[in-house]
Amino acid sequence: ISDAVTLTVSVPRAVLSVSPQKWLTEGDPVTLICEVKGSSTGWTFSWYTLTVSSDSSHHYKPLSDSSRGAGGNYTFSSAALKHTGVYVCRAERENPAYYTTYSNTQPLWITGVSPPVSLIVSPSRTQHFTLVTISLSCEDQSNSDRWRVRRYTDHAQLEDCLLSSWGSQTGSTCKISSTVPLDTGVYWCQSESGDRYNLVNITVHIGVILESPVHPVTEGDTLTLRCLYPYSTPPNLRADFYKDGSLIQNQTTEMIISAVSKSHEGFYYCKHPERGVSPKSWISVTVSHSESQISVLHTLSSVLAVCPYLLVTVVLIFKCCRMRGKTSN
Ligand SMILES: *[C@@H]1O[C@H](CO)[C@@H](O)[C@H](O)[C@H]1NC(C)=O
Ligand SMILES: *[C@@H]1O[C@H](CO)[C@@H](O)[C@H](O)[C@H]1NC(C)=O
Repeated sequence: ISDAVTLTVSVPRAVLSVSPQKWLTEGDPVTLICEVKGSSTGWTFSWYTLTVSSDSSHHYKPLSDSSRGAGGNYTFSSAALKHTGVYVCRAERENPAYYTTYSNTQPLWITGVSPPVSLIVSPSRTQHFTLVTISLSCEDQSNSDRWRVRRYTDHAQLEDCLLSSWGSQTGSTCKISSTVPLDTGVYWCQSESGDRYNLVNITVHIGVILESPVHPVTEGDTLTLRCLYPYSTPPNLRADFYKDGSLIQNQTTEMIISAVSKSHEGFYYCKHPERGVSPKSWISVTVSHSESQISVLHTLSSVLAVCPYLLVTVVLIFKCCRMRGKTSN
């Protein structure tokens, strides 16, 4: 009897990742990368998005131009709102013929610059206690009720509030009557045609939570952070506040940043010596482009509007002078 030989066979697995990041602003470039771990040559890749149908079941829908990513990279040179979604890939090889299973799911979140609808979260904060009621309401200018609230969570992937057991949707408002930690995820407003707007992060946590804004803060605005605990009165604790892992203010009941700038962007959390630590939340800061653009346009248009009058006045003065000159002659 010879020595035993160990043969290890590993199943080729497709792994999907994203570069540079999964949270983007409209217009940013982004690449989805599909790889077969431990085996690099001879594969062609196909691409899918996750969809949820009216019976809440999930499906993989091939991307219409799947061949574009056959080499393993699927690039959006300029991300658009319609690219928000959950992606999956799969690899195949001809010789010897082999199909991998579907890859992990990879969400891609594209935030619009000026969305036509706002997602109003009440209570108005990112982190929430367990066993409370929260409402998520899509509000547009015409008060229409054509919006659906949908969410993505790690455990259940895509879900529609209307078809769910966790929430109830009336009009454009989704109500979660008793929150649980599994409600943590990304929520948005979706139109009938499938456009997704106003993505927000929601975190549900047992114990200490950070009170921070749901939507980006505009540069120059005031930002107030509090540390809340459900079983204390008042609910805000005297706590320490951290940004990106370092202590920025200790032993305070609220942290106020009076004029927010881009440098305040980051992950925040709070910590109480006995009650514990809150989850981290990302606070983003936006520059109000629209205002500066509007003022420039405004000035420009008033200058343009005044121009013809000025011209006519100059011509009239000129003619007037010439006529005076003639008559005095
Ligand atoms: C949601 O949280 C992630 C980090 O977990 C962050 O990168 C992203 O910008 C947040 N999105 C919004 C809309 O705040
Ligand atoms: C908290 O702040 C006080 C006063 O600034 C300081 O003396 C103390 O060392 C700080 N504590 C911690 C844990 O950083």
